Order: sequence, then structure tokens, then C-alpha cells
Amino acid sequence: MLEIDHLSASYGKAMALESVGLRVSAGELVAVLGPNGAGKSTLLKAISRAIESQGVLRFEGQNLHTVATESVVGMGICHCPEGRRLFPELSVLKNLQLGAYLRKDSAAVHADLHKVYQLFPILLERSQQMVSTLSGGQQQMVAIGRALMGAPKLLLLDEPSVGIAHRLKMEIFNAIRHIRDSGVAILMAEQDAQSALQIADRAYILEHGQVAQHGLARELAHDDHVRKIYLGIA
Ligand SMILES: Nc1ncnc2c1ncn2[C@@H]1O[C@H](COP(=O)(O)OP(=O)(O)OP(=O)(O)O)[C@@H](O)[C@H]1O
Ligand SMILES: [Mg+2]
Repeated sequence: MLEIDHLSASYGKAMALESVGLRVSAGELVAVLGPNGAGKSTLLKAISRAIESQGVLRFEGQNLHTVATESVVGMGICHCPEGRRLFPELSVLKNLQLGAYLRKDSAAVHADLHKVYQLFPILLERSQQMVSTLSGGQQQMVAIGRALMGAPKLLLLDEPSVGIAHRLKMEIFNAIRHIRDSGVAILMAEQDAQSALQIADRAYILEHGQVAQHGLARELAHDDHVRKIYLGIA
């Protein structure tokens, strides 16, 4: 579904991605792990065409470099960015509806709203409440829900668990698993390698803008380097 080869990106003279290769198949949950500044967010931004990049970047066989930034969502790639970028003064419902702004299929949009409420029941309870009054974890649920309202084939999640209390974090990781089981492919950047490797099918480890390692999540979870550096297990 997603094919990336020799992908590079830079901010001015500073190289942030260097010759990255990565695949996501339909229905797969793939994690991108790595320390602060490794290039995880840059990779997701390059895929959603929020930044320029060089190299092979294909989605369902189509060269993404030739696609206008605003058309990427219509192709089925929805990005839930770092820092959530919600409209804090608007209601939960309005924020969710904004995720579907390009869609004309109102019956399907309504059905997807129902699915988001099934995934995160608290959002139905709080649907008329301003987003700024929600907890960080609940706001993350709105951000994921908004991305789902775009009817993605591929969902890009940037650090869905950052700064969130443990209980809500588990709820969010469970929801992510459900989204994958419903047939949506997911590429998820995450600092919590332990939790990410528990739910992902495969994972890539980025270090200094390059893929240092990749493989099946269950195998990486037992790899010595990964255990020592990312899981804190000697
Ligand atoms: N807008 C920007 N302008 C200049 N440099 C940037 C910009 N955004 C990111 N960088 C740099 O690019 C590199 C990769 O950053 P990126 O945000 O992709 O890392 P990350 O893996 O997502 O880190 P984190 O875990 O902290 O979110 C870093 O060195 C960062 O300082
Ligand atoms: Mg980041």
C-alpha cells in the first residue's frame, strides 16, 4: 500500500531523513520508534506531503510527489499530527465533523461518527463540550477520531500516547488495535516502544534520520539492542 525508498528530507541545510526505506501493507499496523529528533514526525509529514522530500514515495501505486498536498486526504491518507492541532474553542462534535470536510457521502459520514463514538464512548458523552475543557487523553481521542472521519485507508498517528495518564493510554492503544482490526492500515510514530511493540505487527527504528533496524514487532521486542536502548532492559 505504502512504498518508500531512499527518502530524504531536510530543513534548510539540516538533513532530517536520509535514504529511508519503509513499507506498509493493507491492514498492517507498523510502528516507527526512535529517540527525540530521530525524524519520526518528519517521516509522517513527508508522507502526508506537509513537507517536501526526495525519493520514492508511493501510495497504492501512485507517486505521492505528484499529488497536491490538499488531495492526499482524498486519496485516503489521514494524518493525526504531533500536538493534536485541534480547535480548542469548538465542540467535540464540530472538531470531529471537520475531519470529514472533504466528504460528500453524508450517510457514510454519519455512520463513521457513530463508529468513533463506539470506539471512544466518552466523546459521545462530551460531544457538545468545548475541546479545551477535555483532558489531554480525551483530546487525543478527538484527534484520532477526527482523522478517522476522513475515512482513511492509511492512518498516520504521531505519538498518540505522549503525555497521557496510563489508564487512558491503554484505552488509546486498544482503540488503535481496533482500528487496525477494522481494516485501516496504520503507521504510528511512538516513543513508548514497549507499548508500541505489543500492538504493532512490524516496526522500524529510526536513528539520526536513518532506519537503524526493522522487523516483526515480536522479534524486535526480544532483540538485545532494542531491549537495552528502547525498553530499558539490560
Ligand atoms: N520545522 C523544523 N525546522 C528545522 N528543523 C526541524 C524542524 N522540525 C524538525 N526539525 C529537526 O529535524 C530533526 C527530526 O525531527 P523530528 O521532529 O522529525 O523528530 P522526531 O523523531 O519526531 O522527534 P520527537 O520524538 O521529539 O517528536 C530534528 O533534528 C529536528 O530538530
Ligand atoms: Mg515527533
